[in-house]
Amino acid sequence: MSGSNKTVNGVDMSAYWLPFTPNRYFHQHPKIMQSAKGAYYFDDHGRKLFDGLSGLWCSPLGHADPRIGAAISKQYEKMDYCPAFQMASEDTFRLATRVADMAPKGLNKVFFTNSGSEAVDTALKIAIGYHRVMGNASRIRMIGRDRAYHGVGMGGISVGGMVANRKMFASMMMPGVDHLPHTLNLSQMAFSKGMPTWGAHLADELEKIVALHDANTIAAVILEPVQGSTGVIVPPQGYLQKIREICTKHAILLIFDEVITGFGRLGANFGADRFGVVPDMITFAKAITNGVIPLGGVIVRDDIYDSIIANGGQEQAIEFFHGYTYSGHPIPMAAGHAVLDIFESDDLVNRARALEPVLENGLHAMKGKAGLLDIRNFGLSGAVELEPIAGKPGLRALKVLEACIERGALVRVAGDVIAVGPPFISEPKEVEFLCSVLGDAVDAAMKINS
Ligand SMILES: Cc1ncc(COP(=O)(O)O)c(C=O)c1O
Repeated sequence: MSGSNKTVNGVDMSAYWLPFTPNRYFHQHPKIMQSAKGAYYFDDHGRKLFDGLSGLWCSPLGHADPRIGAAISKQYEKMDYCPAFQMASEDTFRLATRVADMAPKGLNKVFFTNSGSEAVDTALKIAIGYHRVMGNASRIRMIGRDRAYHGVGMGGISVGGMVANRKMFASMMMPGVDHLPHTLNLSQMAFSKGMPTWGAHLADELEKIVALHDANTIAAVILEPVQGSTGVIVPPQGYLQKIREICTKHAILLIFDEVITGFGRLGANFGADRFGVVPDMITFAKAITNGVIPLGGVIVRDDIYDSIIANGGQEQAIEFFHGYTYSGHPIPMAAGHAVLDIFESDDLVNRARALEPVLENGLHAMKGKAGLLDIRNFGLSGAVELEPIAGKPGLRALKVLEACIERGALVRVAGDVIAVGPPFISEPKEVEFLCSVLGDAVDAAMKINS
């Protein structure tokens, strides 16, 4: 083993390469979580921390719900693994059916993956495969959006629009990708509650890209209905409808990446339901197992699946050469069933929706604080945008995170934006606590100028 001798609580930190983390800064300011229960984490300083982002948007039911643990352990005893190819467990079919039943009408086929990144790359492959079997092999271009996050696979970083996620890997990008502009414009929409009224016209940029390349070359548009990882960018009123219309007009598939927004975060099963816009595919992950065990997937319009299957050649031939060793793994399936049972029995989507005004009021009560450039929210998610420390992008938000931890809450840093998305099991007073901690943390962090 080589590297630094830095330790935390007597544990050597040098071997673990932390993902999406400033490792050098972390070694100086380690953040160690030791346990989690309900809506709280407990750290190595003995602090109880309200889980203001539901893990990484993935634990809306809070932590250590015994019903999920029991389902996993029962499944482990019954069958701990089933080969994913050429066979499946009954529970895998059942979970696919349950997910399809929650999805918008017409999207009834489910392909399981292990993560959101894999779900995205799978959806892009399905889009290309579909056009090919339909005799449109020229439709290979993809359209993403600036500031989009679609995971870290080759497809996902190519259609993604977060600059830092791409620049080191420029040589690995998929060819033939264009990006729509993102819709955040603080001069037009700062401090909007819910959907901004300005910006639907930005969807017309899609027509320009189509005109540039010809519709016959374009396979799909992929969008997060609300851009999550870049700091909760809420679509302008009418924007997603326009995108849908343009895609339909040009026979371009529309993929909603609902890895964050799926399963209740926007107060409906999917963002597609909340916005009243039905895409051709939906990617999901995270909340389907409450973050307890990895699982993702793609929900696909029936005729896309039907076309690929019908064009698969002889009956003994594989129709779609794609899949993972752990696709439909019985243990995440068991977790998924337990999570969906809890969603139903505890009426969690409605609980999330009922908390929306509490979060909205709590966040917007900060308006007027020094150094706040924007406050935005939609569903049970929100963000505050901070004036950066001159010459040190991202440091202000890190300082806010640390000030929140000192005061008893966890939030998420995205550049100089702080995002929040509390668990659906939160009590209103806990959401109010989160907002008040965040407000105090912003005040504290604004005093730092270098
Ligand atoms: C919209 C979206 N797509 C894809 C991903 C990637 O998911 P994963 O980290 O499970 O690969 C994320 C993760 O945050 C996401 O927010």
